[in-house]
Amino acid sequence: MKFENLTVDAVDALSDDGLMITFAVPDGQRERFAFRPGQHVTLDAGLRRSYSICSTPAELAERGRLRVGVRLLPAGEFSKIAEGLRPGDTVAALPPLGRFTTDLTPDRARRYGAVVAGSGITPVLSLVATALSVEPASTFAVICGNRSSASAFGVDELADLKDRFGARLHIVHVLSREASASLHGRLTPALVADLLPLVGPVDEWFLCGPLGMVEGARPVVAATGATVHVELFHVGTPPTAPPAEEDAGEVEVELVLDGRATTFSMSAGERVLDAALRHRTELPYACRGGVCSTCRAKVLAGSVTMAANWALDPAETAAGYVLTCQSQPSSSRIVIDYDA
Ligand code: FES
Repeated sequence: MKFENLTVDAVDALSDDGLMITFAVPDGQRERFAFRPGQHVTLDAGLRRSYSICSTPAELAERGRLRVGVRLLPAGEFSKIAEGLRPGDTVAALPPLGRFTTDLTPDRARRYGAVVAGSGITPVLSLVATALSVEPASTFAVICGNRSSASAFGVDELADLKDRFGARLHIVHVLSREASASLHGRLTPALVADLLPLVGPVDEWFLCGPLGMVEGARPVVAATGATVHVELFHVGTPPTAPPAEEDAGEVEVELVLDGRATTFSMSAGERVLDAALRHRTELPYACRGGVCSTCRAKVLAGSVTMAANWALDPAETAAGYVLTCQSQPSSSRIVIDYDA
């Protein structure tokens, strides 16, 4: 998995503290950046961040456009970089990743639902547009939480989708800092439960936003028997790896990336990604917090323990996949394959 330069085509406001960056993807790059709705892309502009794609696979295939939503944080280092981007600039990007998606087929009739907070709407914009285009008999209900109407992320894009799909798209806006809003409050589990009758039965839910909202809403919607997909935007304070324990012992590592093997030794008290980056600087990663899955690799020999895992499902961990940013070796030799 290699970074490739994408050219910025436009930078537009998505809310009073959010931007939409549109990249122009030429024919030769479209296959590499092909994605499924709900996936994200890792950008590297000196700093690495993962952003959800809010455009659709069809838009990429037909018009060579790929758009991501970026929330601007007051002290955010990447926010400053994003605000300075202009058409014609290039940004290095990894091909899209993520499993916050579902299989869409024209003959399927499903009732989809989403509970999102703030910029959590970005992957759902792509899911709504794609699901309702590909599956003419499906519907989508979106419960959308924001602080205020001015800061509501992607509200114009949602309104455009409503114009396009009419009654097949049901949008419920909830504002936490506007007491005059018809639905006022934070998306607590109790409020989500109260809203379920309003949106009706749902077969498949998508939850996206901060950890507290997602973890609160998950059992509420899961209790209906629906399939639930979750995507976290962050888990609070960005976690930092603990300092390497002294005398933790040495571990022999064989690492495979892009078909090339590298061997080195590391302390057993260190995270695999931190040690591996000293030997292969091109290794994929973004959040370093166990959220984005960009650093995913397969353990082919030996074992590791993960400090946190917000990204891999039980089937992936059972198959040997790990988040290398969260993994410490627990055997004296490990073989890690980033290509698997
Ligand atoms: S870099 Fe994001 S999960 Fe490891």
